[in-house]
Amino acid sequence: MAGKVVLTGIKPTGIPHIGNYFGAIRPALGLADNFEARYFIADYHALNSVQDSATMRDYTYQIAATWIACGLDPKKVLLYRQSDVPETFELSTFLMAFTAKGLMNRAHAYKDAFSKNLEKGVDQDHEINMGLFTYPVLMAADILLFDTDLVPVGRDQKQHIEIACDIAQRINHNYGAELLRVPQPVISSTLDLIPGLDGRKMSKSYGNTIPLWLSSKELRKLLMKITTNSQGVEEVKDPDTCNIFALFKLFSTEEQQAELAARYRVGGLGWGHAKQALFEVVDAHLAPMREKYDALIADKAALDAILDEGASRARVISAATMGRLRKAAGLGR
Ligand code: TRP
Repeated sequence: MAGKVVLTGIKPTGIPHIGNYFGAIRPALGLADNFEARYFIADYHALNSVQDSATMRDYTYQIAATWIACGLDPKKVLLYRQSDVPETFELSTFLMAFTAKGLMNRAHAYKDAFSKNLEKGVDQDHEINMGLFTYPVLMAADILLFDTDLVPVGRDQKQHIEIACDIAQRINHNYGAELLRVPQPVISSTLDLIPGLDGRKMSKSYGNTIPLWLSSKELRKLLMKITTNSQGVEEVKDPDTCNIFALFKLFSTEEQQAELAARYRVGGLGWGHAKQALFEVVDAHLAPMREKYDALIADKAALDAILDEGASRARVISAATMGRLRKAAGLGR
């Protein structure tokens, strides 16, 4: 439906990888064709863990360049840095007053950190900062500030969207007006299906990711490291239980898939051959985007200009939302 707003954020906490591409970027770009899209770099969320300035800057540029290299058109999609929109932090403080502490206690990122500390027998608050504890409030501010209808995210973020809905409804109810639009998650399940180098779900925390922007040579070398079983070349193999094949499927046509599956089933295809076939399709898919990425990342001033332009357009919307709320709440004059 036209007129609906879709919004999502990516944290600059690591090098963009294939999991980000299929799990977040591609689905979001698909939605951008049909809705008004607002995509941002969640640098204040990253600040909870990325506390070195050069790293923060690098990852932020990398995410911006990745969005654009993958097809985001900054003229059509609003692309901005979270930190360039100060109303985010004003709204976040506003939301705090309507957020039950118990709701934060139950948020899973905090709960996980908390239970790990208990397991380890260290202080229950060890290495937990208030940024982690109030993470869902900041995320709710990101979403509610921009009149968001749809939020494409991975399954792990669903609870955060529910918290945003909960807070928005409390505020609307309190002031007796639809001040904040209540959003809805769009859960992408692709990410669950993307195996990393070791066969577990691809995730930065497992250290098993395949970065998007390696050179051809580096990419091939990395793909050759994918974990396999010890079946010999001549043995017949099962594509349906194979990590290499699962990755191959993401990058290939049905015809290519049928062809490789047939080679698995007759025998004579060693794991090295399968990895080579995988490399060829991945490299063919990424090469044109890699060229764009390399050009974008080499020109930080141009990236800054795009992000600045995004921020000034974003602030028109964020100022309107915040003005509406301040008025409804009797804040200011
Ligand atoms: N928490 C999200 C993640 O870790 C990133 C994020 C921050 C986000 N703010 C958001 C996603 C707002 C969607 C909407 O992936």
